[in-house]
Amino acid sequence: MVQSTGNKKVKTAVFISGTGSNLKSLIVFSKTKESPISVNLIISNKSKAKGLNYSKIFKIKKKVLDFKKKNLVLSERKLLSFLKKNNIKLICLAGFMIILSKNFIKKFNGKILNIHPSLLPKYKGLNTHKRVLNNKEKYSGCTVHFVNSKLDSGKIILQKKVKIKKNETENSLAKKILIQEHKLYPKAILKVFSL
Ligand code: GAR
Repeated sequence: MVQSTGNKKVKTAVFISGTGSNLKSLIVFSKTKESPISVNLIISNKSKAKGLNYSKIFKIKKKVLDFKKKNLVLSERKLLSFLKKNNIKLICLAGFMIILSKNFIKKFNGKILNIHPSLLPKYKGLNTHKRVLNNKEKYSGCTVHFVNSKLDSGKIILQKKVKIKKNETENSLAKKILIQEHKLYPKAILKVFSL
């Protein structure tokens, strides 16, 4: 599906909106010998996203774009030409809280991955942990999947389950799942390249 050419790593852009802990884990992974990808671009819809600091730390190009609905078409057009210019072949969404247009997704068909903090197809969308706890679920987890035009509905690549303890809070659950996300995303990328 996504193929590497020769010994060269596949140029990848990571899209973020916040802390960027998944971005960091992807960058660290990308520097290992076994990684089929290199992280060449960081894209954010928020100029104050904490994760943008990794651009400086790891010397990776960054770009902030305004994805507000009324500007989405223009932003995506700019973004597409920027990605093309930088020879980006794979996109990893990592806490990117914007829904990309069908047109954009079509242009990168099968080349966009996302990580979501639930056991999809359960709990698509926002406020996952709150809804999981309200429903008194025994387990939750995280999922890496291909992005298609329906929210959090693309083909699942890998999932990791975590047990919910008695006094679990939204915060403790989010932390516990995030630790697993950092391991799952690199594993899912390895799987995608072996498909
Ligand atoms: C992660 O838990 C990720 O799964 C979630 O946002 C967090 C970002 O953390 N993504 C979504 O909810 C997407 N719908 P990070 O910025 O530290 O990687």
